[in-house]
Order: sequence, then C-alpha cells, then structure tokens
Amino acid sequence: MDSESVTLKDGRAIHLRGSARGDGPAVLAYIKALGDSTDFILTHAGDQPTIEAVDERIEMIGDGKFYSLVAIDPGTGEVVGNASYSFSPRVKLSHVGDLGIGVLPAWRGTGLGSILLKRSIEDMRAKPGIVRLELAVMEGNDLAFGMYERAGFVVEGHKSRSMCQPDGSYSDEILMALWIGD
Ligand SMILES: CC(C)(COP(=O)(O)OP(=O)(O)OC[C@H]1O[C@@H](n2cnc3c(N)ncnc32)[C@H](O)[C@@H]1OP(=O)(O)O)[C@@H](O)C(=O)NCCC(=O)NCCS
Repeated sequence: MDSESVTLKDGRAIHLRGSARGDGPAVLAYIKALGDSTDFILTHAGDQPTIEAVDERIEMIGDGKFYSLVAIDPGTGEVVGNASYSFSPRVKLSHVGDLGIGVLPAWRGTGLGSILLKRSIEDMRAKPGIVRLELAVMEGNDLAFGMYERAGFVVEGHKSRSMCQPDGSYSDEILMALWIGD
C-alpha cells in the first residue's frame, strides 16, 4: 500500500499508509486513546489488547489475513486514525471483510474518517475474493452511521442490548453491510 499525503478540511496534512512492522507501540497508543475517548466502540479501558496481540495482527497483513490503514500526524509520528478489516479464517466467510474505524478527538470533523473509509473501501475492491464488507455501529452513533450510509452501507439488522457499558446500561447495535462484488 503506497504512502499518501492528504490535506484535511482544516488545512492540516496527514500521511496515510498501511500499518507496517514496528508500528505496534503507536497503534497501541492510538487504540488506548480512542477507547478513552468514546463509549461508541467495543474497546474499553479495562481490556486493551497487549502489544504482542497488536504486533501479531500487523504480521498477518503480509499474508493478506488482516488490513490496517493508519493516518499518521507527520509532526509527531503518532497514529491519529485507523481503518481496519478482519478476515475470517472460515472458508464460508472468506468473502467478507469486517470493518473497524476511528479517529482521535483532535482530528475529528476534518474529513479524515470519510477519507479512511473511502480509501479502505477502494483497497477492499482491489483485494481478490472480498465482495462483502460488514460492520456494527452502536445505536446513537449518528455521525458514524451517516458516514457509512453515504458510503453505500445498508442496514441489515439490529442487535438488542448486545453491549453492556461499564455503568451497567445496555446498548443496541445496528448491523450494516456493503456489497462490492458484481
Ligand atoms: C466516526 C468517526 C470515525 C468519524 O471521523 P471524522 O474524522 O470525524 O469523520 P468526518 O470528519 O469525515 O465526518 C464524517 C461525517 O460527519 C459529519 N460531521 C463531522 N463532525 C461533525 C459535527 N461535529 N457535527 C455534525 N456533523 C459532523 C461530517 O460532515 C461528515 O459528513 P459528510 O460525509 O457529509 O461530510 C469519528 O467520529 C470517531 O472516531 N468516533 C469514535 C469512534 C467510532 O465511533 N468509530 C465508529 C465505530 S462503528
């Protein structure tokens, strides 16, 4: 995946590229900061992945078993946004990519989320065998929901009280998918 410099709506520049060996600590710092910033994702402060788990995922990219697009702040080298797709090892699910996306608070509203989504969908269209993209978005995450709808994702289902927040309240999830095959 080629590295690309992009100018955001607010004039700041960002570098986009695929995650590479050595990115583990920066990706882990991003995951932690994103988890601390919102209740709208699965990751919680109490269950961060280990650096070994993050490195393992990055190693899987070379074999085509994982995809991760990172947005890097050229000033600090920090990862400030990410779009990733997981691919199931199950044969009957081998046509599916499962999307996760996030942008750190200081970089939201700049168009970065939409850029990551668009670029990652283009990369999935170019990936042999992948024809269906899936995601789950929490009820109430209207900004993310609108971004997915504009990219062509459609609602396929609803999970009731599928997530339990740390305060004991439950959240529903909306299941969305985008067919990118013929
Ligand atoms: C969802 C998320 C990735 C979007 O990233 P972002 O960089 O803010 O996205 P964008 O700037 O491209 O904005 C996306 C859309 O929301 C709109 N938007 C952004 N900020 C807004 C605001 N404060 N008020 C109203 N609309 C806003 C934009 O206009 C854009 O719409 P458009 O496509 O019509 O232009 C980011 O908010 C995030 O990381 N949230 C927490 C994690 C999360 O929810 N991830 C998704 C889990 S399913």
